[in-house]
Amino acid sequence: MQIQENISLRQYNTFGIEAYAQFFSGFSSLDGLLNIIENKKYHPSLILGGGSNILLTKNIEGLVLKNEIKGIEKIGEDENFIYVKAGAGENWHRFVQYCIARNWAGLENLSLIPGNVGASPMQNIGAYGVEIKDVFHELTAVHLQDKIIKTFTAPDCSFGYRESVFKKKSKRKFVITDVTYKLRKQPVFNTAYGAIQQELERMGVKTLSIQAISQAVINIRSSKLPDPALIGNAGSFFKNPSIDKLSYTVLKEKFPSIVAYENEDGSMKLAAGWLIEHSGPDADKSWKGYRVGDAGCHAKQALVLVNYGNATGKEIYDLSEAILQSVEKKYGVLLEREVNII
Ligand code: FAD
Ligand code: EPU
Repeated sequence: MQIQENISLRQYNTFGIEAYAQFFSGFSSLDGLLNIIENKKYHPSLILGGGSNILLTKNIEGLVLKNEIKGIEKIGEDENFIYVKAGAGENWHRFVQYCIARNWAGLENLSLIPGNVGASPMQNIGAYGVEIKDVFHELTAVHLQDKIIKTFTAPDCSFGYRESVFKKKSKRKFVITDVTYKLRKQPVFNTAYGAIQQELERMGVKTLSIQAISQAVINIRSSKLPDPALIGNAGSFFKNPSIDKLSYTVLKEKFPSIVAYENEDGSMKLAAGWLIEHSGPDADKSWKGYRVGDAGCHAKQALVLVNYGNATGKEIYDLSEAILQSVEKKYGVLLEREVNII
């Protein structure tokens, strides 16, 4: 166990925010983790994966633990499914590619999401019509206080839209060490969402495959989401809010071009990107492409806030607050932050 002191976290978060950890340590095995948390001297305050869904607004007192547990293993199969277990520190997209190369289906729509395997169940990551809950089998996690090793099945995780038990009742209590996914031997293609079909046509795909869908998703994502290696960001900053049908009908009458999708329960999910694009710091100005200092709202996707270089976490947070308030004032809809504010 090697504990470092006063470590800059800038390279460990995709927003590229400067903040310091009082203590910092990586761990690459379950035993390594247990070793660290048994030492009462260091209080674990933050578990880090790829740092692609956090906004650091202050220096971190206590110990920042970076999960580096690696390994991908097929642990079983039955007539229809392959069960594959991955270490929490595996890079998500590399894991997706590993499965696609073996024709294990189910993850293709989730291609190119930044971050690591361990965070995927945290907020039930999702994209292009698929969420982790659709392919999740179980996970292993260690309780930080009791040091008990626990297996969580899907019902234990209480998955919701960008939600799980790890963001609610069990917030900051567990470290996820590995995740097992249940992938299909025969693919069930999911191309209904957004621009996938259009992109497949543009690519000239004649025979549908998980490889083609993965490439279409990669192309769409690359065309509108900023690459964190070039511009700091953490993906969608807010969730898409849901409202009841009646409230939606009223809004639609007033703002005919508003974008929304019907949820299974009949409520309507509004595109937060649209709400943000169609509001702004002044009545005649949009947030989309807006910049104050080095904090900004991305010009191609208004739901993504960006750091052009040296923005502080507080500056990004303050911009998010101004956006949230202007959207609430104009549409009466309260946005909820999707990024974990630390
Ligand atoms: P981190 O940012 O390191 O951590 C996120 C949270 O999980 C923190 O609270 C952290 O404490 C906790 N955590 C991390 N690992 C563990 C662990 N092993 N045990 C316990 N707690 C842990 N998300 C989507 O759902 N869909 C998208 O399409 C999408 N697109 C994105 C595009 C871009 C350009 C970016 C930058 C982000 C995008 N995201 C998207 C958000 C992000 O990629 C995901 O939320 C990802 O799962 C975060 O993984 P991470 O390892 O970086 O987590
Ligand atoms: N829109 C605008 N203006 C914008 C952005 C979007 O009007 O600036 C409208 C458009 O009508 C567009 C619609 O909103 O068609 C939806 O936009 P998009 O397809 O880009 O998806 P999103 O709803 O903004 C969600 C997820 C993304 C995920 C994509 C694809 C959330 C909070 N975000 O974004 O996840 O990749 O769908 O499935 O649910 C993330 O979580 O970090 C993330 C990037």
